[in-house]
Amino acid sequence: MNRNDLNAVATAMVGSGKGILAADESTPTIGKRFALIDTESTEASRRRYREMLFTTPGVEEYIGGVILYDETLRQSTSDGVPFAKYMADAGMIPGIKVDTGAKPLAGFAGETITEGLDGLRERLAEYYELGARFAKWRAVINIGENLPSDFCVQANARALARYAALCQEANIVPIVEPEVLMDGDHSIARCEEVTNAALAALFAALAEHKVVLEGIVLKPNMVISGSGAADRAAPAEVAEATLRTLKAHVPAAVAGVAFLSGGQSPEEATVHLDMMNKSGDLPWELSFSYGRALQAPVLDAWRGSEDNYAVGQAALFKRAKLNGLAHGGQYDTSME
Ligand code: 13P
Repeated sequence: MNRNDLNAVATAMVGSGKGILAADESTPTIGKRFALIDTESTEASRRRYREMLFTTPGVEEYIGGVILYDETLRQSTSDGVPFAKYMADAGMIPGIKVDTGAKPLAGFAGETITEGLDGLRERLAEYYELGARFAKWRAVINIGENLPSDFCVQANARALARYAALCQEANIVPIVEPEVLMDGDHSIARCEEVTNAALAALFAALAEHKVVLEGIVLKPNMVISGSGAADRAAPAEVAEATLRTLKAHVPAAVAGVAFLSGGQSPEEATVHLDMMNKSGDLPWELSFSYGRALQAPVLDAWRGSEDNYAVGQAALFKRAKLNGLAHGGQYDTSME
């Protein structure tokens, strides 16, 4: 493992005003997204949809990395170019989701542990051969009455750290994602408390597992009110609380921070990112790794029809560009 190589990949993913397109929905998840636009999910329709995303003209100016699902990493453009090669040639780094999902944590009702460590070393070696240069693992922390338990937070932090160490051994940059869910009616203060606990546990575990911080990308949630909260915090408060929490736990050595969107609307996710970057003086690149906040308008424009291929691409280009501007603190709502 070469510290400099990993850092160069991480910097290419989130530096220079770029961010990450999370297009790693599992087959069941993309099926649910397609169902909302009355589109059948088949191997062919999934391939065509992803081809529309990846070949959007000019998107590489704002997208430095794309997270894929296993099926997609093995697929090709209509011209027969493997997606991973197409992206690498265009200057977008291909990555791969390697966790196998959040499963119920035995003995802890309402909590999950993310699985996928068994056989991971061998899978990473194959993914490297297929062109992946970074990976993703998502841990899920649920806020509820008496949740999360400290045990759940610690168990997920250790799994993330074991994954990250295996990635670096394989010369693959780990995206480390400890997601505190927005589901619920909790306050922003409660989200801050739980996010603090999740990040503290994570960085302790990463140190124990000898993970090189210059060669990771952290993918955190923003500190935000629960989606069902009566009085949701305004953007300025979200930006302030998120930066306070990150600065308290994320060492400056970390190559980059790229937020998940987690159920925020596309506009909200852009406004929040922009506000944080406008505040200036940050020790890390502060970028995006959005799934829904980049793709929701695209799915809506495309609706499974070839006739809408170009408008789908235009929708992706717009959101990628606006988030790229937000990465530089250069966004304004009038651009919507
Ligand atoms: P969202 O931005 O839709 O939360 O997805 C990002 C992601 O990759 C979650 O793991």
